[in-house]
Amino acid sequence: MNKNNDTIKSELGRLRKLFIMPDSPDKFIEFGNELLAMIHDFFQEKGGIHSSITLPELSKIFEESDLPDKPILIKDVLSEIKNKIIKHSVKVGSPYYIGHMTSAIPYFMILLEMIIATLNQNQVKIETAKASSFVEKEFVAWFHRLIFRRTDNFYKNNIQNHKVALGSVTSDGTMANMTALLVAREKAFPADDVFPGVRNAGIEAALRYYGYTRAVILVSTRGHYSLRKSASLLGIGEKNVISIPVDNNNRIDIDKLRHKIKKISRYRHNARTKIMAIIGIAGTTETGNIDPLDELAEISKEVGTHFHVDACWGGSVLLVDEYRYLFSGIEKADSVSVDSHKLLYCPMSMGLALFRNEKDLCLTRHSSQYVIRKNSVDLGRFTIEGSRPFSCLKPWAALKILGKEGYSILFKQAKKSASNLKAMLDACGNFETFNVPELFILIYRFIPKTVRDDLIVLKELTLSGHDQEIKEITRTVKNINRLINALNIKLHKSLRMDDSSFVSRTKLESTPYRPQQIVVLRAVLINPLTTRDILREIVSTHNDIGLQLWEEFSPLYERIRSHINQYGWI
Ligand SMILES: Cc1ncc(COP(=O)(O)O)c(C=O)c1O
Repeated sequence: MNKNNDTIKSELGRLRKLFIMPDSPDKFIEFGNELLAMIHDFFQEKGGIHSSITLPELSKIFEESDLPDKPILIKDVLSEIKNKIIKHSVKVGSPYYIGHMTSAIPYFMILLEMIIATLNQNQVKIETAKASSFVEKEFVAWFHRLIFRRTDNFYKNNIQNHKVALGSVTSDGTMANMTALLVAREKAFPADDVFPGVRNAGIEAALRYYGYTRAVILVSTRGHYSLRKSASLLGIGEKNVISIPVDNNNRIDIDKLRHKIKKISRYRHNARTKIMAIIGIAGTTETGNIDPLDELAEISKEVGTHFHVDACWGGSVLLVDEYRYLFSGIEKADSVSVDSHKLLYCPMSMGLALFRNEKDLCLTRHSSQYVIRKNSVDLGRFTIEGSRPFSCLKPWAALKILGKEGYSILFKQAKKSASNLKAMLDACGNFETFNVPELFILIYRFIPKTVRDDLIVLKELTLSGHDQEIKEITRTVKNINRLINALNIKLHKSLRMDDSSFVSRTKLESTPYRPQQIVVLRAVLINPLTTRDILREIVSTHNDIGLQLWEEFSPLYERIRSHINQYGWI
């Protein structure tokens, strides 16, 4: 049915009112208040962290494949959002939620998000992002200075210099790592009089021209999977991200790294390998530990390769002067990535790729006729992404509101929470903790005290027994760990069912039981609202549920125990 002109006009009139600035700002305020009330209710609500709905049930709520046709009133859509989405969202801000790097945010972030949405600046070009382009360059310089500590003159010359970029703001840590590795790739296969550079000629031609058969990236086994993604997208190949083993505190094993470098640097069967980058991790995803960056910087220099530090998790901790020693050597990196949605307590999501050399990002510079023109000041010349939001307003304003001092207090509290939890678990007896929580992440497992004591004795016996006996003991230890792995998987599932708290779970080889993989629970302790009492409650819940589950597992352990008795080991 054709609509007449009057109807179309009145519908257009109604649609126009939806745009900012609306004719009736009171409507905007009314809905804004309603939304804030909804969010408030969500946070106040007592009970579970995840809502009890199952995933298949949830998928049924969102099974409509037809696009909405007729307009629906805002208040009805808000009500739908409340009942279908907010109700079933994860309460990542709960002080009992200590399982992931996603955590609580200060309330002023909601206001900043509103400003970002209202201004709707597009950082790709100055024509759509005026003041915000300069804010971004200032913010990048803050972190550049925090990490690389170049001279006053350096910052004076470069902070707003549109010909160079001290770094780029990305959508997340994955893109920040990717940006750093893109620069590493350009530096590994540069243009010269004959060769047009890898970005033009492609990786195959680059390898051929420089006489290599492959390019590799070296990082510890704790490396984040975003590095493999980057390698695949950059044409390096995922299998050419070479994992170097870590020590028991999850730091790259320097001897093994040196050994690997020696091995791959040998010219064998006409095959030569280019080491495109060495990566240090400043806060591993699973355990929060920091690689020996000074040594990695030195090795990278010897090898003549790009040294990147993935500080997506830990980089912001440099704001606390007292913790700087943990990152010693980071200032020698060629590039560093940092996430603001992690330890800067900003909402999702923003990453930063920073480069010690202000000209490095010029290697990736792009231009086009209608935006990011060659001589423009457009930030989009230096980014992989095209359109980008004014995300850096959040950390820029947060650093002003909280200051270095505020972040210092938050990080010290996080450190205290991590050591409190470790002390509580160690004191309980039914847990085994596995790492020194340098950056607020603790890994541990539930293991009844009697089993733990048996393992300690068995471990000691392996130091003194004869070969055959050591073999048998090692097999027994493996069997015990297999049982405890199964117990911890079940415990983790039961904790999810209980839903009064949340920790995550992973499997690591870097424990005293290596090379056996051990299932561990993982707590990330960055929410300042997580008090000592809450941690006590969480440990007590873990312990109670763990002991209940043990009743089911103990007959199986008795069988292993009788084997132990038979040998008279204990
Ligand atoms: C060390 C490290 N690097 C990179 C990333 C990737 O960050 P994002 O999830 O923001 O892409 C993470 C995420 O957890 C991380 O922990």
